[in-house]
Amino acid sequence: MDRTTSEATLAPVTPATANPTPKSLGDLVAFLHSQLDDKGINEMDQVDVNKIQAAMEAYASNIDEWSQFRHFDVGRYTRNLVDSGNGKFNLMILCWPEGVASPIHDHAGSHCLMKILEGGLKETRYAWPEDKGPKSTPPTSLLSSITDQSVSVTEGAKCAMDITLETPLELDQVAYIHDKIGLHRVSNPTSAPAVSLHLYCPPYETCKTFDERTSKCRGSGRAVFYSEGGVLKNPKTSST
Ligand code: SIN
Repeated sequence: MDRTTSEATLAPVTPATANPTPKSLGDLVAFLHSQLDDKGINEMDQVDVNKIQAAMEAYASNIDEWSQFRHFDVGRYTRNLVDSGNGKFNLMILCWPEGVASPIHDHAGSHCLMKILEGGLKETRYAWPEDKGPKSTPPTSLLSSITDQSVSVTEGAKCAMDITLETPLELDQVAYIHDKIGLHRVSNPTSAPAVSLHLYCPPYETCKTFDERTSKCRGSGRAVFYSEGGVLKNPKTSST
């Protein structure tokens, strides 16, 4: 056996496609930049979603690393920006009081991955209403913040839209959705607060929201932040 063959045989097997295992939130953020920074905004369909999902799953939630983004408000969920991803993605922490749900919404053509950092949540998926496919234009007349459209879990139960899947999500689990899959709402049906980490790429500023009783698109939800980089945007009205 010549030397080259022998070395090749003895080398540890590390497949080029091995999934990353971020040891901290900082590692995960660095990995996301490595995957997404060089993607053109029209190349987002080439994003390796499975690899990103595996990395998000591999990160074991550690509250000491993200407590500065953990801000709750009464009766609605909050969106807290962690990293604006050089314009290629938004990474944020969402804080869900018990019994609160997001409105049924689309994702404006973006990839959405969400990981449970604390407690448990439920994802409910819906089919697009027949007259409102992913390409329809959202009405802009009723533009309000998406978090102001939070509903209570019991209110969200009376639904005329077709539910396609309901998934309880536990600590460190990661879910993925895209407009090609359908619409969804996230709820906290538990009696404890919950926290999730959301990645949107590319980032979006508005999305369509839907009335669960009529399935009508009721306007655009503005994707506002409650805090950015750990700093509250309206400290006087915020309750943490
Ligand atoms: C969700 O997926 O329900 C959260 C929506 C948001 O980003 O506000």
